[in-house]
Amino acid sequence: MNRVCIVGASGKLGQYLIEWSLKEGYRVNAVCRPQSVDKLQRFGDQIDIYPAWTDNQNVVAQAIEGCDAVLTVLVPWGLNDYSSGTAKAVLNSAPAHARLIFSCGWHISKDGKDQYSLAFRLLVALFAKLARLFRFADLSDQVRACSLIFNSTKPWTVVRGSNLEEGPSQGLPIWRKHTHDPALSRNLTRRTDFARFMVHAINNNELVHQAPAISAVLQE
Ligand SMILES: NC(=O)c1ccc[n+]([C@@H]2O[C@H](COP(=O)([O-])OP(=O)(O)OC[C@H]3O[C@@H](n4cnc5c(N)ncnc54)[C@H](OP(=O)(O)O)[C@@H]3O)[C@@H](O)[C@H]2O)c1
Repeated sequence: MNRVCIVGASGKLGQYLIEWSLKEGYRVNAVCRPQSVDKLQRFGDQIDIYPAWTDNQNVVAQAIEGCDAVLTVLVPWGLNDYSSGTAKAVLNSAPAHARLIFSCGWHISKDGKDQYSLAFRLLVALFAKLARLFRFADLSDQVRACSLIFNSTKPWTVVRGSNLEEGPSQGLPIWRKHTHDPALSRNLTRRTDFARFMVHAINNNELVHQAPAISAVLQE
């Protein structure tokens, strides 16, 4: 049975990643902040927990050892380069063959060719400004983290999530290279299906070195 490492496993997306990984028959190593270990209690001995901040290179390296894939929740919290520190910890420790799947949002663009609505751009700019003003997040560091990933020769995929909602799975989301593709105009994905797509990406070679933008399919 293959083993996957989930980096940032205790958040909402992280717990869905655990559920889908277990459903797919993977053994799971879970890295989460020490204060969040209790959030993973329900998984009992189905998973091995590595308590650490996700930019802790030493612990991330231990958790990744022997894994065939690493699923990373990239978050921009704090002003200490947490996102790029997390990306570096994973990129530096992962064996060459391991599939590396990262999460982020539509605001990240791999080739700069995504076209965004004015409303979207204003929302991102407002969040970035408020986040820096109140010192709770640094969106530009998530951009730096993704640049590091895009420049890596390892087999990475950066999954760009649309707006998210809770609820039971609606099936695998669709993906396109660019966020403005009309097929993605619903701009809404169940969080569980975001995780499902990331787990599915492990064995989808078409997604290597791609930054798929995802959404649930448009409803008639
Ligand atoms: N929210 C959205 O609307 C949205 C839309 C598109 C894409 N995304 C992407 O989806 C992924 C998951 O985001 P989410 O919003 O859905 O959140 P989430 O799944 O609840 O995950 C939040 C993560 O951030 C960690 N965290 C919380 N506060 C932190 C802090 N102060 N310092 C360091 N880590 C902290 C949490 O760890 P603990 O469990 O230890 O607290 C958890 O691992 C991200 O990659 C995000 O870019 C989100």
